[in-house]
Amino acid sequence: MSIAPPSSIPISRPFLGEEELAAIQAPLRDGWIVQGPRVAEFEQKFASFCGAEHAVATSSCTTALHVGVVGLGAGPGDEVIVPAFTWISTANVVLFAGATPVFCDVSLETFNLDPASLSEAVSNRTVGVIPVHLFGLAAEMSTVNEIARSRNLWVLEDAACGFGTRLDGLHAGCLGDAGCFSFHPRKSITTGEGGMLLTGDPALAALARSLRDHGASRSDHARHTQAGSFMLADYERIGFNYRMTDIQGALGSAQMDRAEWILAERARQAAFYLDALGDLEWLRLPKVPDGATHGWQAFVCLYAPEEPSLERRAELIERRNLLMAALEREGIATRPGTHAPVAAAAHRDRNGRAPESFPNALLAESLSLALPLYAGLGDPELEHVSDTLRRLGP
Ligand SMILES: Cc1ncc(COP(=O)(O)O)c(C=O)c1O
Repeated sequence: MSIAPPSSIPISRPFLGEEELAAIQAPLRDGWIVQGPRVAEFEQKFASFCGAEHAVATSSCTTALHVGVVGLGAGPGDEVIVPAFTWISTANVVLFAGATPVFCDVSLETFNLDPASLSEAVSNRTVGVIPVHLFGLAAEMSTVNEIARSRNLWVLEDAACGFGTRLDGLHAGCLGDAGCFSFHPRKSITTGEGGMLLTGDPALAALARSLRDHGASRSDHARHTQAGSFMLADYERIGFNYRMTDIQGALGSAQMDRAEWILAERARQAAFYLDALGDLEWLRLPKVPDGATHGWQAFVCLYAPEEPSLERRAELIERRNLLMAALEREGIATRPGTHAPVAAAAHRDRNGRAPESFPNALLAESLSLALPLYAGLGDPELEHVSDTLRRLGP
């Protein structure tokens, strides 16, 4: 069955070829399908690309974050600070661990957490913070780490969008105590579903390996490749089944072999948009601060024909949505950057503060506009998107 794409230029598309097709057949041929040698190979390639000491693959970024939050010790009575503009699971994993997510607002310049709002959110129950490197731009980690150090908090990076993201030369995932990545198809490299936790802490890495595998003291792969394979593992803790399959590991490994090219392509396309759209006054383009390397998981702008404000929000959303609908009619897919979980029904009533207490998160949800960006998108398409946007703008 073939499904016709709703737009002729989609918002995103994984880059997959014959190498990936060949790679995923190997586990099917030899029969080692779950968390075996291909997952280990993918972990090793990913750790070495990012310059991390330990990489622990999981079934998604959400499950990596859950393992991270539990591994770092959050539990009932604890508070963990998360940005109010991010994918909902950044906040959900804190609840999974029995702790309470406390939101802080974001900056409309970067879409990342606002350090002043982070400082205000810290209480004597706070145990950690989850900065998000949204759309591939690193959060202000030197300030986040300073606040964390002074209040004795751990820092778990949500680097779901952070592949290729660097700050002062260090890759995302190596900027806090641990960092978690997503390999969902909207990310730069994909394993279908999949995630990875990076850390420099060997004890945390060992705990994460156990937590992802029902709390086992050693993996099936280790057991089957050593004498005494009939001896079952010990189970010293309650864990989860968050294992990655070897089919996904093989896919991830093949994607890593083209990762440099994929990231370079995305950076080239972002540079194209920055050049082609730089003079539009009604569209604020992403900025890359000194010392940062953007990973360009997405090219997300802010629709701002007027100064964004909560008072004008309803009118501006309507205008942005009309623009998105007009682009869709021209065959160009766009999306909001992400959403504000603080305003989602699932979190609104748990959170002691009204969504309007996080004005920038609400404005980012309402006015962000992501343009198509993916390895394989050609110059004629980039030109078409830029020209059409210019023609249809307010
Ligand atoms: C910022 C952020 N965090 C977490 C996730 C969850 O990733 P996954 O779908 O791999 O669980 C996403 C996915 O889009 C994300 O963008």
